[in-house]
Amino acid sequence: MLDLKKDFPVFKNNPGLCFLDSGASAQKPSHVIDFVSNFYKTTYANIHRGIYNLSWRTTELYDATREKVAQFLGVSNPECVIFTKNTTEAVNLIAYTYGETLNEGDEIIVSIMEHHANFVPWQMLSKRKGINLKIAYIDRETLELPLKNITSLITEKTKLIALSMCSNVLGTISPFKEVLKIARDKGIKVLLDGAQYMPHHKINFGKEGLEPDFVVFSPHKMCAFDGLGVLYGQREVLEKIPPFLTGGDMIESVSIENTTFAPLPNKLEAGTPPIGAVISLLKAIEYLESIGMKNIEEHETKLAKEAIKRLKEIDGVHVFAPEKISNGIVSFTIDGIHPHDIATILAEDNVCIRAGMHCAEPLITFLEQDSFARATFYLYNDLEDVEKLITSVKRCREVFKL
Ligand code: ALA
Repeated sequence: MLDLKKDFPVFKNNPGLCFLDSGASAQKPSHVIDFVSNFYKTTYANIHRGIYNLSWRTTELYDATREKVAQFLGVSNPECVIFTKNTTEAVNLIAYTYGETLNEGDEIIVSIMEHHANFVPWQMLSKRKGINLKIAYIDRETLELPLKNITSLITEKTKLIALSMCSNVLGTISPFKEVLKIARDKGIKVLLDGAQYMPHHKINFGKEGLEPDFVVFSPHKMCAFDGLGVLYGQREVLEKIPPFLTGGDMIESVSIENTTFAPLPNKLEAGTPPIGAVISLLKAIEYLESIGMKNIEEHETKLAKEAIKRLKEIDGVHVFAPEKISNGIVSFTIDGIHPHDIATILAEDNVCIRAGMHCAEPLITFLEQDSFARATFYLYNDLEDVEKLITSVKRCREVFKL
């Protein structure tokens, strides 16, 4: 079992804190906080603009992060790693650029378990362009997404499959590897939403021969600072698409009549980026790799399995997770208690979870639920956190006299 609370100052500063909401955003280790704090004290300047030492050094750290992300993903072109504001913006960037090249009658496939960030941009694009948006459903019983539920939707008009690698509600891992292979053979583009996958699993896209057309993820869910998203895309597409936002640092030349654009990555990074957040990602990946992604996955899966087993022993508690889990996501309901009340009572016990629709309303509706309580375990959680969750869930039932 990992024992990492000591690496995260939030736990020292909040004795008794049981933080089970890393699926929303993860806590930050000293390794990241101290480095960025020191960076602001000693080095900070804007990137790409100054020919003085501070700006050079900041630019070096910024570019080193891009290299680090490429290495983390196992992809060969760091200049195709684009820093955005968040995962939502990364998906929108593709929807408003590559998406606009699609035509009326084309088809896009998404799954029912998509986060709104990988659903609404495609729904809106479909309405703008007369594109047919097709939904791949999960199995209501197993909560898995069978490959055939995706492949059976593919026709010669399919242009894009936009797929979550891992559901933020159920922890279901999609068959994204098989989808990538099938789509590549058929010339269909794939966008993978890795927001809930990348912080928890090791994947080397290049080594596995699986380079996706687009992959997006959220550094703040993997111990880096907030305000940053990552998009990785295939060079041929990123070079062809127009800029999403226009302005500073993404131009080559501007005249009164016309503008030409800088090469990748700058073309897709308009304006001053979130420099501190980018640099925090360099240190966050370094930290996660020092623990080992495989160890992180095993650790949080053990905790989630224990939590699921214990929750299921409590009368009136229903857990919504597939049989085979490999991450720390545990969604549940308690008969007779609204998930918001569960979260409120748990908060009184210093147990932090998320409740609601989790930005996945189509999924919640499909499962005929109003909302879920969701606990998410990460590398700094331990068995004591499981214990606190269970004790607090039992107290919920006492409060409601169930
Ligand atoms: N997408 C984040 C979550 O699932 C915010 O909580």
